Amino acid sequence: MTTAKTAATEANQRYFKAPVFAVAPMIDWTDTHCRYFHRQISRNAVLYTEMVVADAIIHGPRQRLLSFNGEEHPVALQLGGSDPAKLAEAVRIAQPYGYDEINLNVGCPSDRVQSGTFGACLMLTPDTVADCVAAMKKVATVPVTVKCRIGVDEQDPETALPALMARVLDAGADALWIHARKAWLKGLSPKENREIPPLDYEIVYRMKARFPDVFIGINGGVQTLNEAEAHLAHVDGVMLGRAAYQNAAILAEVDHRFYGAPASDPDWNGLRDRMMAYAAGHIAAGGRLQRIARHMVGLFTGLPGARRYRQILSTDAAKPNAGPDVIAAAFAAVDFSGAAQAVSA
Ligand SMILES: Cc1cc2nc3c(=O)[nH]c(=O)nc-3n(C[C@H](O)[C@H](O)[C@H](O)COP(=O)(O)O)c2cc1C
Repeated sequence: MTTAKTAATEANQRYFKAPVFAVAPMIDWTDTHCRYFHRQISRNAVLYTEMVVADAIIHGPRQRLLSFNGEEHPVALQLGGSDPAKLAEAVRIAQPYGYDEINLNVGCPSDRVQSGTFGACLMLTPDTVADCVAAMKKVATVPVTVKCRIGVDEQDPETALPALMARVLDAGADALWIHARKAWLKGLSPKENREIPPLDYEIVYRMKARFPDVFIGINGGVQTLNEAEAHLAHVDGVMLGRAAYQNAAILAEVDHRFYGAPASDPDWNGLRDRMMAYAAGHIAAGGRLQRIARHMVGLFTGLPGARRYRQILSTDAAKPNAGPDVIAAAFAAVDFSGAAQAVSA
């Protein structure tokens, strides 16, 4: 029992040096282009991939599913699955790509995920999750973490959550990210399940008090860096999903506020130039600008010119033969003068 704890503590010291600020795994959103973009705004935020199903890694197009840009580090691969042998095999295959962490999804409530018996419904079978983690740990040379809910359906989170945590920690999990709301496995869409039922941050704080040696990060509904900072008084990490994606400028102050970097005004022109160079490379390799630009449309939400910026990126970038100059045109539409104030809220 203490072995798992000790292993967790060692891994925490190496990699999970609190505080950690993370951008959540989001299917269809946090692909390699999105992560590259976010990395240009924050050097230190931990970036999670979309969930990749173990079976897809074993039988599917590995290179497409797993390759990423070296600049994305630190980057964590999130796996979906419930078969320990398959998850271990997926880790074995994925590891040479150089991920900094492997995370197991125990929180996604979609029907598609449930029919594969993984994601949030695994909250009901802590032994299976523990077997998965143990199998992944045997193969992994990087930390193995779990992202879970506080419970599902009729479960009482006060007992279900600590029971799950104890099992996965004994199995060797190095850290836990907890989405602070229950998942309902029937009757709600995944989208509704991100708003209903209500968030319960307090239970996550109590888990940190109960498992003080373990890295515990909180997720769900965090909108601003001020809110993130308030959570860090209670837990080791904060993970933002939608707010980071839909208003990526929020990431510009992460390095200063959570990682001790000197305060500086965001370098939006530098970001523009780096994204144009990245887009040029992608297009030269046969890709389309839209694949990159679609992640950038929310960047300046709330600033003067943001609407025009969004319009240019969503319409002009979708045209055949669209080039990096579309990015320049979009940035030119924005008045950055109030940007620093807008993102610090
Ligand atoms: C479009 C979208 C896709 C998501 N895909 C995943 C996923 O692949 N794996 C996962 O663990 N959670 C997934 N989530 C849930 C987020 O990781 C996060 O737990 C949730 O959005 C709550 O955080 P937020 O309120 O900061 O957005 C997804 C969320 C969104 C909006």
